[in-house]
Amino acid sequence: MTAKTPRLLVTGASGFVGEVVARHFVALGWDVIALGGTRLPAIEGSRSRTLDLLDFPKVTELFAQEKPDFVFHGAGATSIGACQNNPSATEALNVGVTRHLLHLTTGRLLFCSTDLVFEGTEAPYDEKSTPKPLHEYGSQKLTAELDVLGTPRGVVIRLPLVLGQPGKWGSSALTWMVDALKQQKPVNLFHDEWRSPVWVEDVARACEVIFTTAKDTVPQPAIYHAAGADRLNRVEMGEMACRAFGLDASLIRPLSRLDVPGGEQRARDVSLKNNQLAALGWKPTPMDEAMTRCAAIWPAPTTRK
Ligand SMILES: NC(=O)c1ccc[n+]([C@@H]2O[C@H](COP(=O)([O-])OP(=O)(O)OC[C@H]3O[C@@H](n4cnc5c(N)ncnc54)[C@H](OP(=O)(O)O)[C@@H]3O)[C@@H](O)[C@H]2O)c1
Repeated sequence: MTAKTPRLLVTGASGFVGEVVARHFVALGWDVIALGGTRLPAIEGSRSRTLDLLDFPKVTELFAQEKPDFVFHGAGATSIGACQNNPSATEALNVGVTRHLLHLTTGRLLFCSTDLVFEGTEAPYDEKSTPKPLHEYGSQKLTAELDVLGTPRGVVIRLPLVLGQPGKWGSSALTWMVDALKQQKPVNLFHDEWRSPVWVEDVARACEVIFTTAKDTVPQPAIYHAAGADRLNRVEMGEMACRAFGLDASLIRPLSRLDVPGGEQRARDVSLKNNQLAALGWKPTPMDEAMTRCAAIWPAPTTRK
C-alpha cells in the first residue's frame, strides 16, 4: 500500500516566510495549498489562491473541502506599528483568525510566533522561559500562542529576525539594507539591539522537522525556537552582509535604538536558544555562510515587487 501524500495548507504564502516554506514542501512532493490574502502566491507546483482569512464562512468551506493534514499558519499583522496603532483590527487577525483555524484543523497546526514575546532583559531565552511582551504585537502573538498550546493539535514556532533572499512579494530586513548599500546610500543600524537571526531556508527545514516528528514525541510545551547560529547586533549583521555581497561597510552608521522615537519599545536582546529543534537534529546555517549563499541567488530588483 502506498502512503498518502501529505496535504499542507500554508497561510501567508504571499509573504516572505510562507513563500519559502510552501516551495520547500512542494519540493518534498507534498500537496501544498498556498494561500495569499490579497496577493496571489507565485509557487509553481502548489495550488495557489487568495482568501481573506477574516472571511470565516469561506475559510470554513475551504477546510471542509480540502481537509489539510497540516497547517503552517504564517499569515498575520506583522508590523509592530500597525498593531500598536490599530489593536482591535490586528488582534482580529493575529488572535481571532488563529482561533478559527485551530477550531477547523483536524491535523496539526504550526503557528508562527516571534522572539518579541520576550521583554529583552534576560536573554538568551529558551522554550521554557517566561514571556513578557513589551508591546501590542508581542502581546497578540502571546495570546494566540496560549490558544495554540491549549489544544493537542497546536504547535508554536517562535521565529527570530528572519533573513534571506527576497521572494516574489515578500522581503526581509536584508533587502532594504543590501539595496541601499548597493546604491552607495548610508544605512543607520543599531549597535545595541541583539537578535539570533535565522536564514529563511532554515525555517522551512525546521517546519519539515516539526511536521514529520511523531505527535506523541512533541515536547511540552509544544514550542520550538528557530534560533540562528549567531547572536548578532544590527551593525554586525550589516557588516556581515557587506562581506558577503562585496559592499562598502563604511556606509554603516551605528546608532542607539534609544536615539529613535519609540526606541524604548524595542527589545534590547531577544536572542533565543534552539534546544528543542537541536534535539531533533536541526542545525541552522551560520549567518555569514547563509548571507554568502543569499548573495549567490539574489534576484534582480526587476523580478520582485
Ligand atoms: N519575518 C520575520 O523576521 C518574522 C520574525 C518573527 C515572526 N514572524 C512571523 O512569521 C510570520 C510570517 O512573517 P512574514 O515576514 O513572512 O510576513 P509578511 O511577509 O508580512 O506576510 C504576511 C502575510 O499575511 C497575509 N495576510 C495578512 N492579512 C491577511 C488576511 N486578512 N487574510 C489572508 N492573509 C493575510 C499576507 O497576505 P497578502 O499580503 O497577500 O494580503 C501575507 O502573505 C508572521 O506571523 C510573523 O509575525 C516573522
